[in-house]
Amino acid sequence: MTDQSKIPLPTGFDRPSGPSLIERASGSFDFRTLTRPVVADLPPAPEPRIVPQQPQATPAPLAPAPVQPTVAAPAPAPFAPPPPEPIVAVSRFSGPFHAINREHLREQCIIEPESAVTGTLEEFRIVKRQLLRVAAASRAGQGSVHGERILIASAHPGEGKTFCAVNLAISIAAEKDNEVLLVDADFAKPSVLSTLGLPGGKGLMDALADPSLPVEDCVIGTDIAGLYVLPAGNATGSDTEYLASARTNAVLDRLTAHSPNRIVIFDSPPVLAASPATVLAHHVGQTVVVVRADVTGEAALRDAVGLLGACDDIKLLLNGTRFSTTGRRFGSYYGYKE
Ligand SMILES: Nc1ncnc2c1ncn2[C@@H]1O[C@H](COP(=O)(O)OP(=O)(O)O)[C@@H](O)[C@H]1O
Ligand SMILES: [Mg+2]
Repeated sequence: MTDQSKIPLPTGFDRPSGPSLIERASGSFDFRTLTRPVVADLPPAPEPRIVPQQPQATPAPLAPAPVQPTVAAPAPAPFAPPPPEPIVAVSRFSGPFHAINREHLREQCIIEPESAVTGTLEEFRIVKRQLLRVAAASRAGQGSVHGERILIASAHPGEGKTFCAVNLAISIAAEKDNEVLLVDADFAKPSVLSTLGLPGGKGLMDALADPSLPVEDCVIGTDIAGLYVLPAGNATGSDTEYLASARTNAVLDRLTAHSPNRIVIFDSPPVLAASPATVLAHHVGQTVVVVRADVTGEAALRDAVGLLGACDDIKLLLNGTRFSTTGRRFGSYYGYKE
């Protein structure tokens, strides 16, 4: 993903010139030992910075398993778990509807649905194609389960998770055959709503904490066709425990059951700073780890990928590049005539 340099880096990050740290490191460090990148599969000639490899199915050591009450005595069990919540097909969301200010999107280098082709649009077209291929295969019963659920993660704050999640969502919403639900799962520091210029409201954490609140009532409809947004909701102090509960499965199933064209994108908190990302990795079929050029270190990246090991399809997305050894410059071709 190219650096759209209008936007300043978060405080503390310098923007050096020349090839990025990741680009320089790719000469000496074999990224195959990590995982399969999003960018490596791109036509026509993938850059050899990060080379594809089968993803490592690393067990997630820190992921708390859902707590099942242990019943020692024979039935009737005094503390038997409640019967599983029935899965209700949600074909229509019932939350509020809001228009999205296109000028606000432009200011943040977010894709404007009706605008001319830009470099950002072209880059996300390439990224989404690989993710949609896996989602389609998953629906057909091949590859990972729940490939239609995609977690956008990174090691640290400021590496571009929200930037990539929002752009990817708008890009997928433009698909003729898909609609997209963008879930803000950064419960401590949600920023999807502010990025899209949407007002606050109840969200995923409220629906997890309150069984009487239907999650579909929290989903915001937008005037970008096919784009829906589920806010993070109110943080509880037990966010990770709620996420790890059996109820999360039921709530997420309500969002996707019998909606074969729906892709769900989760904008996660930083993996090395908050535990929800590790737990969310259990619920998704694909994870995209954003690597910020010149910012993300190798050790942090390895650590983050290890913590996300519950998802066995992890891809890397290099973000904020300012240099291409092959002259790759997407968006420069449309409108160009001899
Ligand atoms: N490729 C990029 N080009 C320009 N600005 C970017 C790019 N990626 C991220 N940013 C900007 O960097 C800042 C941090 O990105 P953000 O997506 O909020 O990070 P995170 O969600 O990982 O904390 C934001 O201001 C965002 O707009
Ligand atoms: Mg973010």
